[in-house]
Amino acid sequence: MAKVSVKGTHPYDVLVRRGLLGECGKIFRQQDICGNVCIVTEETVAPFYLQTVQKSLVEAGYNVSSIVLKPGECSKNLMSLQQILSFLAKEGLDRKDTLVALGGGVIGDITGFVAGIYLRGIAYVQMPTTLLAAVDSSVGGKTAIDLPEGKNLAGLFWHPDLVITDLDCFQTLPFKVYRQGMAEVVKTAILAGGELFSLCEKATCDCDSDMLETMVTACVTYKAQVVESDFTEQGVRKLLNLGHTPAHVIEKRSGYTISHGEAVARGLYLMTAVAYVRNELSEETAERIFGLLDKEKFPDDMVCLAKEFAEEAQYDKKRKGDSISLILPEGIGNCVIKEVPITELEKLYDGAMRYLYERNNKSR
Ligand code: NAD
Ligand code: GLY
Repeated sequence: MAKVSVKGTHPYDVLVRRGLLGECGKIFRQQDICGNVCIVTEETVAPFYLQTVQKSLVEAGYNVSSIVLKPGECSKNLMSLQQILSFLAKEGLDRKDTLVALGGGVIGDITGFVAGIYLRGIAYVQMPTTLLAAVDSSVGGKTAIDLPEGKNLAGLFWHPDLVITDLDCFQTLPFKVYRQGMAEVVKTAILAGGELFSLCEKATCDCDSDMLETMVTACVTYKAQVVESDFTEQGVRKLLNLGHTPAHVIEKRSGYTISHGEAVARGLYLMTAVAYVRNELSEETAERIFGLLDKEKFPDDMVCLAKEFAEEAQYDKKRKGDSISLILPEGIGNCVIKEVPITELEKLYDGAMRYLYERNNKSR
């Protein structure tokens, strides 16, 4: 079993292996988790994994309750927040009790938020069941719900006490959802470089792969390092948003018909091309990054016009006055945050998109 220790407001372990959910009760005891446990999960995940987790916790002597939400982003809202808080109050959970987030990023984000505000803060354990949640959202303590006005607008930094990642959970993931996680893996590989990048280049990264534990652990290790040096995203943590600025525009302009992962992958192509046309990245290195994205068969058509990206930059959270922060790969394992005037964005994106188009034509 791989173990990554994360130093946070309090230190916590991320455990990664196949078959861990069935052992979670024993692990809770080893980690000195006491009190009662309430599992927050959702209707797609519950039939696969709730019973296993419940059984293991009960066998280890815990009193266990559970609440099952509707699946998907529609549960990351004020209504579900109220529903969970009321449930906890009726169940009489107190400050020494623990919540479990059993699900993908949606369940992780809302459960973390509830844990942060119920009785002014109680412990919670992340049990990510999607690849995205395993490599990204379960680590780092960002919690949130969406408001009618926008995504992730209410939340707090509240770190879990433990993360239990059972790689077997990915066996039941629809391929499309698994790919969303792969986009975040590739993002992390570009940021971290080194062995993770080489591993992703060489390995088949499907959910049966022997390399999965190494790959997920390497992603978590990288994220842990970044988060430890910048808990609240004042600086270096912003790098984790590589590819996400154009991705948010692509998702929005497609009316959310393009998934987050496929939008992030397009954003990775675009930012790599931008760095190349700005002469900040060699063609050889750009090709290694494109090669990894190509290998995963991600799309590289931007769907939006350069003009539309520039228009949307006006509304971006990362806009500072007349400029916007772009995260650009200047090498593999060497991404930087660059302030770019919004007036230059259209020309820059246009050049990058032309380059991608020509590259595509050449390879046909
Ligand atoms: P999700 O939780 O909605 O899961 C995606 C889909 O997979 C859902 O339909 C779900 O029911 C299903 N599912 C989950 N586990 C399954 C399993 N093992 N088998 C079969 N089906 C399963 O979405 P996600 O992609 O995991 O996470 C996206 C969310 O994470 C977004 O709300 C995003 O804002 C958030 N996020 C948070 C952070 C952070 O740092 N907190 C980082 C990235 C993303
Ligand atoms: N998902 C980006 C972060 O945790 O900062």
